Amino acid sequence: MTPPSQGASAHTHQRLGSPNTGVLVTGGGSGIGRAAALALAEVGRPVAVWDIDAEGAEETAAICREVHGSVAEWAVVDVADTAAIAEAVPRAADALGSLGGFVHAAGVSGAMTVDFIDDESWDTTLNVNLRAAAMISRVLLEPFRQAGPGSSVVLISSIEGLFGSAFLTAYCASKGGVLGLMRSIAHRFAGEGFRVNAVCPGAVDTPMLQPAFELPGFRAQLEERTPLQRVATPDEIARPIRFLLSDEASFITGTHLTVDGGLTSITAI
Ligand SMILES: NC(=O)c1ccc[n+]([C@@H]2O[C@H](COP(=O)([O-])OP(=O)(O)OC[C@H]3O[C@@H](n4cnc5c(N)ncnc54)[C@H](O)[C@@H]3O)[C@@H](O)[C@H]2O)c1
Repeated sequence: MTPPSQGASAHTHQRLGSPNTGVLVTGGGSGIGRAAALALAEVGRPVAVWDIDAEGAEETAAICREVHGSVAEWAVVDVADTAAIAEAVPRAADALGSLGGFVHAAGVSGAMTVDFIDDESWDTTLNVNLRAAAMISRVLLEPFRQAGPGSSVVLISSIEGLFGSAFLTAYCASKGGVLGLMRSIAHRFAGEGFRVNAVCPGAVDTPMLQPAFELPGFRAQLEERTPLQRVATPDEIARPIRFLLSDEASFITGTHLTVDGGLTSITAI
């Protein structure tokens, strides 16, 4: 693939009307987070890629730089570690020159019905998927003020945040919580001119879903139930994330965008 020139990148960026500020992407070492970092780099936005997987984060940043010629930093940050977050956010802002965007794509899943739930798996799921989004957002106001108008947050929820699955107790709780958190932060940030939204993906072809795909018939059944008859690629989630972070979405805040190939639009019967 021929890397686009800086000029082409700047042109695309202008067309999309995005702010040119840096974006922090958690879980950027894989799946949806990586695709979001690449989509943002494509339109010239600097990205800070955080993950607990050093190799994945470094690789994402390298692709952003090599393919899109954009500014990309990476760091190993465990988003469940609140103290680490407080130090790492200003570092990311310094490294990128500005921080005017945040995508919370770090996430963990795990099948467990309520009768088998234990404290440890509950806490891990809630701390990574939900608490981290709050703890990062609480230190974003200052860098967002410095970055100026157009700053924006996108939290990754799930269709499991809209509906219940017996096997995903902690995951459903965390993703429903993300939607409540998103609305609360949106209200707080709106007074400063900043927007906050969530994306609810359906099934996406990433490492998170691989264990489920290994179950006999799971993928085929899912595809059959989905009106678009397939699962999403990570890029198909990344582009709506990029849209919500851009000025094209300048009057959209406090809401979620479902990106599920129509799965939740159909009735159960
Ligand atoms: N794949 C799907 O079908 C799907 C559907 C709906 C929602 N989602 C959500 O999208 C988000 C991204 O998931 P994905 O499918 O790309 O999965 P993925 O496993 O490919 O990526 C998740 C990334 O988060 C990182 N991570 C996990 N714990 C972390 C921690 N404590 N600190 C920092 N990073 C950490 C992982 O190392 C990994 O790189 C998650 O919130 C997930 O719940 C995924």
